[in-house]
Amino acid sequence: MHNTVKLSENLTWVGVSDRRIPRFENIFPLTSGVNYNSYLITDEKTCLLDTVDPDVSEQFIDNIEHALGGRQLDYLVINHMEPDHCGSIERVTQIYPELKLVGNSKTFAFLEQFYESDLSERYILVKEGQELQLGSHTLRFLLAPLVHWPEVMVTYDVEHKILFSADAFGNFGALNGNLYADEVDYKKDWLDEARRYYINIVGRHGRNVQNLFKKLDTLEIDMICSLHGHIYRTPEDVSMMIEKYRTWSAFEPERSGVVLVYSTMYGNTELVMNIMASKLAAKGIQDIQMYDVAQTDFSYIIPRCHQNSHIIFGIQNYNTTLYPTMDAFIRELLHTNFQNRKVGLVCNSSWGGRALKEFQEYLASNKGLEEFTEPLNILSALKPDQEALVDEFVDKLIASM
Ligand SMILES: Cc1cc2nc3c(=O)[nH]c(=O)nc-3n(C[C@H](O)[C@H](O)[C@H](O)COP(=O)(O)O)c2cc1C
Ligand SMILES: [Fe+2]
Ligand SMILES: [Fe+2]
Repeated sequence: MHNTVKLSENLTWVGVSDRRIPRFENIFPLTSGVNYNSYLITDEKTCLLDTVDPDVSEQFIDNIEHALGGRQLDYLVINHMEPDHCGSIERVTQIYPELKLVGNSKTFAFLEQFYESDLSERYILVKEGQELQLGSHTLRFLLAPLVHWPEVMVTYDVEHKILFSADAFGNFGALNGNLYADEVDYKKDWLDEARRYYINIVGRHGRNVQNLFKKLDTLEIDMICSLHGHIYRTPEDVSMMIEKYRTWSAFEPERSGVVLVYSTMYGNTELVMNIMASKLAAKGIQDIQMYDVAQTDFSYIIPRCHQNSHIIFGIQNYNTTLYPTMDAFIRELLHTNFQNRKVGLVCNSSWGGRALKEFQEYLASNKGLEEFTEPLNILSALKPDQEALVDEFVDKLIASM
């Protein structure tokens, strides 16, 4: 039985939501699944844009068969060759023997790496800016290398001003009937997850996203159809997402704000963080965020670091080196090309070690991570006579905002 949604007279959503998947890419925790979007244009020619994860291909096949209403499938545009989108291609080619595959040279190289069927006779190889006529829809292909993977391209429907954006503008979370961002309270319920998706999945490739924007800036975009998450169709939603992506891809903070990120074994470092947060709040800082790296999945903390202008790290020595979870965290944060932020360091030791030096060396490997004050060193636990040092640390942070 099909579950499809008509988006316009000859454009149908044929995607599938998956609420059972516990982790995206088997690494990022999902609390409400994910959806794999796929779109079918039924014009003089019929054209499918991307497929879905093999886990949900049965439902997907029912959807396209229904939406085609007995017609043949002429084209499949492959914007992205990651298995969550290409995983049903072989299946679809078996059902539709006339189907031609539209992709660039990297697309087909990946197709041959992943799958055994020889589909080379079906290839339509496209280059930057090339167009495909379907009737009243002209599809233009724009290469978007590393807006997740090297072969990624986006497809622009020239007459209808629709951007089929591949993974860009995607999100975690299965959709619940409301496919459009304007049908939900997007800023309240979905934007944090959109940030978590972008920063963790695409984030380190900000420069490539900016290169894609150079191409998109020449286009009028009325609707964005991503491979995950909602469809954006109001001018407000389209520009909200484009503006967010501009900020995120430039590695700029979204706001002047503070996040405290720490590790702790016995709670002494945590107490320093709590005291600092209370003092920051007393000085008027709002919506302070705080995370223990051993308790919250990194994929939630990393986007908070990107969101805010100031980060306080609480670290400690552990067997003469950085506490392992903090070591893993900072390496993963820096791997997202995290840069241009003000940071403050609190280091806890009982007999010494290299933790602080190691952490500072990590920070120096990325651009523009400046300490707003000298590190605050704690010997095992903060004492009342050291409170003035904490006040000074907090004052320095505020002065640098
Ligand atoms: C297994 C283990 C190894 C440690 N190794 C060191 C070390 O090499 N150098 C040091 O100064 N402190 C070391 N410590 C002590 C902690 O850094 C110290 O107890 C600190 O107060 C912990 O902060 P917390 O209370 O926030 O967990 C170690 C503690 C543990 C449990
Ligand atoms: Fe992807
Ligand atoms: Fe994807």
